[in-house]
Amino acid sequence: MIGRKVAFLGASKGMGRALARRLAARGDRLFLLGRDVEDLGRSARDLEARAGEGAAPVGVTLCDLERPETFVPALDAAAAGLGGLDTVVVTGGMFATQEKLEADPELARRLLTVDFANTVVFCEEARRRLLAQGGGTLCVFSSVAGERGRKPVVLYGAAKAGLTRYLEGLDHKFRAQGLRTVCVKPGFVRTGMTEGLRPPPFAGEPDGVALQVCRAIDRGHPVVYAPGIWSLIMLVIRWLPRFVMRKIGF
Ligand SMILES: NC(=O)c1ccc[n+]([C@@H]2O[C@H](COP(=O)([O-])OP(=O)(O)OC[C@H]3O[C@@H](n4cnc5c(N)ncnc54)[C@H](OP(=O)(O)O)[C@@H]3O)[C@@H](O)[C@H]2O)c1
Repeated sequence: MIGRKVAFLGASKGMGRALARRLAARGDRLFLLGRDVEDLGRSARDLEARAGEGAAPVGVTLCDLERPETFVPALDAAAAGLGGLDTVVVTGGMFATQEKLEADPELARRLLTVDFANTVVFCEEARRRLLAQGGGTLCVFSSVAGERGRKPVVLYGAAKAGLTRYLEGLDHKFRAQGLRTVCVKPGFVRTGMTEGLRPPPFAGEPDGVALQVCRAIDRGHPVVYAPGIWSLIMLVIRWLPRFVMRKIGF
């Protein structure tokens, strides 16, 4: 479906930017949510240019995943700006290495709050709105890091595991009422978030992920591994016995 009305949290960088560009270029209408409104304004101008002449302006508003009080006003502003909402996309999130998180309990608390608790609170607000109007699409970026307890991502992976389970529960409970939940599980993708980390041979690029996610949104796929090779990698990882997981560094 083209011509969606999309509230987009996290379009300023990385995979979010690539996905927002693809949606804007094909004719969807976007309203950007994020914590740096000035920067969002620049992203909005970029998206308007990609949408071409005569396209509707792209609105922006404050929404900070560390400040839940910004969620309701942000979704209100998006719904007012777009004249209703049928799609909500969340790519915003935090990452830090396991080493840094173990050394800094405050950083760990912030990451667990942003990537799990507050993302769920934001999604609950989005879910209520979409269901109230008969349904819609909620597309949220989780991670393959949530598939199994793994040494390099104990804390980040725990937050994403919780988020993945929440999205699965939403899909089971509300799909029949018209809520299409799309849980994106990126593997390693080259963005600012992974800068400085050693990429594996099957690392992905934001544009490739954006294409996959766009299709999944249109088809209502509940789970997307991106790049797709990660579905096979995680199939193996899910079946590895615990004694093997204790030995390997993956
Ligand atoms: N890259 C990977 O390999 C990978 C793998 C698995 C999962 N993921 C997940 O995929 C999603 C997108 O990742 P990415 O690699 O594209 O990341 P990125 O390039 O670092 O972009 C992260 C986005 O999150 C936003 N954000 C961060 N903290 C926020 C907050 N408190 N409130 C609102 N927005 C906030 C950033 O906005 P600002 O401009 O304000 O910083 C930015 O738009 C994330 O959920 C990430 O956990 C990524």
